[in-house]
Amino acid sequence: MHMCGIVGYVGAKDAQTVVVGGLRRLEYRGYDSAGIALVPSKGDLVSSKKAGKLANLEAQIEHSPLPAAHMGIGHTRWATHGAPNDANAHPPLAPQGKVAVVHNGIIENFLILREELENEGYEFLSETDSETVAFLLERQLATTSNLTEATRLVCERLEGAFTLVVASADHPDVVVGARRNSPLVVGLGDGENFLGSDVAAFIDHTKTAVELGQDQVVTVTADGIEVIGFDGLPAESTTYTVDWDVSAAEKGGYDWFMTKEIHEQPAAIAETLLGRQDASGRLQLDEMRLSDGELREVDKIIIVAAGTSFYAGMVAKYAIEHWTRIPCEVELASEFRYRDPILDRSTLIVTISQSGETMDTLMAIRYAKEQRSQVLSICNTNGSTIPRESDAVIYTHAGPEIAVASTKGFLSQVVACYLLALYLAQVKGVKYLDEIGQILEQLQDIPAGVQQILDNTQEMADLAEELVDSKAFIFLGRHVGYPVALEGALKLKELAYLHAEGFAAGELKHGPIAVIDQGTPVFVVVPPRARDQLQEKIVSNIQEVRARGAFTIVLVEEGDDSVLPFPDRVIRLPKVPTLLQPLVSAVPLQIFACELATRLGHDVDQPRNLAKSVTVE
Ligand code: AGP
Repeated sequence: MHMCGIVGYVGAKDAQTVVVGGLRRLEYRGYDSAGIALVPSKGDLVSSKKAGKLANLEAQIEHSPLPAAHMGIGHTRWATHGAPNDANAHPPLAPQGKVAVVHNGIIENFLILREELENEGYEFLSETDSETVAFLLERQLATTSNLTEATRLVCERLEGAFTLVVASADHPDVVVGARRNSPLVVGLGDGENFLGSDVAAFIDHTKTAVELGQDQVVTVTADGIEVIGFDGLPAESTTYTVDWDVSAAEKGGYDWFMTKEIHEQPAAIAETLLGRQDASGRLQLDEMRLSDGELREVDKIIIVAAGTSFYAGMVAKYAIEHWTRIPCEVELASEFRYRDPILDRSTLIVTISQSGETMDTLMAIRYAKEQRSQVLSICNTNGSTIPRESDAVIYTHAGPEIAVASTKGFLSQVVACYLLALYLAQVKGVKYLDEIGQILEQLQDIPAGVQQILDNTQEMADLAEELVDSKAFIFLGRHVGYPVALEGALKLKELAYLHAEGFAAGELKHGPIAVIDQGTPVFVVVPPRARDQLQEKIVSNIQEVRARGAFTIVLVEEGDDSVLPFPDRVIRLPKVPTLLQPLVSAVPLQIFACELATRLGHDVDQPRNLAKSVTVE
């Protein structure tokens, strides 16, 4: 998810005040650095940028004030490429300091472009893909005097997903923006105009906005805007009035951050998959500081995590063992180091953590390293403690997850686990490139499957209404559906504060079925028919609980009518390969928990007794 905050301004007000104020409105999007650039007068561009919270930048500006200006751009960064530090903070400047750009997204081909520039003698100061864009712009401006045209020509060379906003010392009255697969909106004022990664950037000044379309470049002056396509032809743009207040704007118009993050899941999955293959199609991972040789030595994997991240690990186990044939255990972080585990140099510890600060998981890492095992972390927060103490990292690009209950974090963790499993299979040679490519293609189709569920949330809202007085819930699943049952139960516990328990469906007859009472809601996640021996058994489980009075809600792939007529409710899932089903089956359960908690009047984003990052043991 492109979650960096972007602001642009040109008009009669003090640009620094407007831009920094806009960045503050965007701060919820996550930040590990912030920066601004201003053009006080023709030929003069000044900037200030600082790692950490926006307050650090404001303190820096307080200490070394910038000259007054009426045009400026600003950025709060959620790092994807490059550590969160001053050097990598935006806006990167071009070598002559005349061009500044703020960027949101991932330029997939930036290494090729950077090499081209280095071959021309350019020297880079940061490790970011954004700096490459600033250098390309300055080089283009040497031959193209018009800033819009220069920006358009540069955009034609960029691949991936990006929002750009550009300021140039030689063009003090104009800000240029461009976007591909990443949001950019224009705010229309009276004698002033704004750019933002979302309307929160300028909602204090105007509620009249224009959403930029795909592959468009916008030229913004104090008097107005002009929109063209990357092809240079004039483009249509529609003006609309923002009817959100500021807090709603931060939630993208949704009631809760959790709802917003549930709806960001297609993009979070797509982003986590983006840029993972090199030109030859081989998988490449973020910061794989373990050599292929070291990985080939791995003869046991232990996944260590907590809560929802632990359930992501349970899902991953099936894929890791099936694709790599390496034995894989999944351990609760808080239990791991007290059970005197058998670790050695050929054991790979894989930790999964959205926040990267979970103390249970961090302590497990430190323990494992004492045992001389190697540690690979899957994490959503660039620069957090856990990745820093790991030997290798795979970042999930889900963007900041604000709601305490993890949703997009969970799905992107599962995707990252699949990437790890495929990478290990590639390194060990137990899967050919075409087989890996086939699975990657199946993963590329998942965002559309999730979107299909998100386009039909009403049935889960209606179900929440129907079950709002229920006091206890059971979740059943088999195979990869078993961790999904556990996750669905956890979502309900954390949000609705109700008893909810997940079971392996095969376990029912060994005791748990005794808790089934008349009307007990039982969710059942039915595996795809591809695994028929599982499928038939779970159908009989549905009959067993139904015979004892359960109210059965069955999640089953479209076209599979073998479960009929037993369930009381049928929730249809898009058809996906068996191992990938958790990426779609978890979504209705997230929505249900969120809807039920809302009806119970709970604060969905900040459930009682819980913290987003459990930094105590
Ligand atoms: C999940 O909804 C909870 N917020 C919690 O279980 C969480 O998954 C757990 O605390 C682990 O957090 P982490 O992924 O940041 O390490």
